Order: sequence, then structure tokens, then C-alpha cells
Amino acid sequence: MNVLIVYGTTEGQTRKIAERVAKDVSGRGHAVEVHDAGESDANVDLNAFQAVVVAGSVHQEQHQKAIKNFATAHSKQLNSRPSAFVSVSFSAALEDTRPEAQRYVDQFVELTGWQPRMTLLLGGAVRFTEYDYFQEQVVKFIVMKRGLAADDGGDREFTDWNALDGFVGAFLKSAAD
Ligand SMILES: Cc1cc2nc3c(=O)[nH]c(=O)nc-3n(C[C@H](O)[C@H](O)[C@H](O)COP(=O)(O)O)c2cc1C
Repeated sequence: MNVLIVYGTTEGQTRKIAERVAKDVSGRGHAVEVHDAGESDANVDLNAFQAVVVAGSVHQEQHQKAIKNFATAHSKQLNSRPSAFVSVSFSAALEDTRPEAQRYVDQFVELTGWQPRMTLLLGGAVRFTEYDYFQEQVVKFIVMKRGLAADDGGDREFTDWNALDGFVGAFLKSAAD
């Protein structure tokens, strides 16, 4: 299969996730193309692909505008082929806050009209060493609210890579059926 991966990222964790998906997909013998939705070349022709994975992360309760625009513009083509959504956030990292992570996805689906065949809620990362003052305050508040211990000022990853690998395998299997 030809598999397209389109991602949106603000601090880089979703790029890392998209690259891991690409490695998994090509490791399973498929051709893969990766695009950053924030770049102009994300205007690809979806007809060339038999399956699509879109990944984006949540900031202030919203996914990136670039992936909202991509999903809205291509909703028809996305709905007519196997497609998967990987939604990256802090809320996805804890059982207690997963309903919130699911709400971000529900809003995204309602807004864009794209109904992914499969969705993964995936934990992101904190990068205190890279935030400006505003981001640091927002993240400290969110992290404290969610009880994720990361107040030592360091960086920390909450991404469950095994869950991602399992998800990619299951999606490719369902897409090939
Ligand atoms: C300023 C800021 C706001 C955020 N807002 C939310 C939020 O509302 N809900 C949430 O679950 N995670 C939130 N996060 C966590 C991000 O989704 C997480 O850091 C993710 O790894 C970012 O992915 P990226 O590096 O691809 O941009 C926020 C992070 C930052 C820096």
C-alpha cells in the first residue's frame, strides 16, 4: 500500500511520533510519504494513497489549525479510504483525564467532518527547557491539574511507544482487508 502521514506539531513531539509511524509502516513493507500540515506541500493528492494517518497535538484544548484545515479540506477523500487519527495531548496520558482527550477528538471530528476509522489518544511530552514564559505557565497549570509530576523544570515524555506500534499494526491490518 501507499500510506500517507500528515502531522501537525507545535513543539516537535508529534513530528517524532509521525516519524515513528513512518518507520513502522515502511518496516511492514509499505511505501510511505510524510508531510507537515504546516508546510505548503501538505496539499497532496490523496488519490495516490490507499491509507492515511493524521497526527496532531492539543494546545489550549484545540488541535493545530493546520491539521483542522487539512482534515476539513480533504474530509471526503479521507472518509472514502482507511484513515486513522493520532491525537497527542497531556490528557491522553492519564486514565482520569482520557475523557477530556476524547472530547478534543469529538470536537475535531464534528468541526472537520472527517470520521477516522481508528483513533489513538496518545500522551505527549513536556519540554520546560524550550518553553517561553507563557507556555511554561500554561503547562505548569495543566500538568499540576492533571497530577503529572514534572515540576522539576526538566523535560519528560509521556508517549506510550508500544501503544503506538500496536495501533499502527492494527490499522494497517484493517486497511489491507
Ligand atoms: C502551551 C501549551 C498548552 C497545552 N494545552 C493542552 C491542553 O489544553 N490539553 C492537553 O491535554 N494538553 C495540552 N498541552 C500538552 C501538549 O499536547 C503536549 O505537550 C504535546 O506533546 C505537544 O505536542 P507537539 O510537541 O507536537 O506540539 C499543552 C502544551 C502546551 C505547551
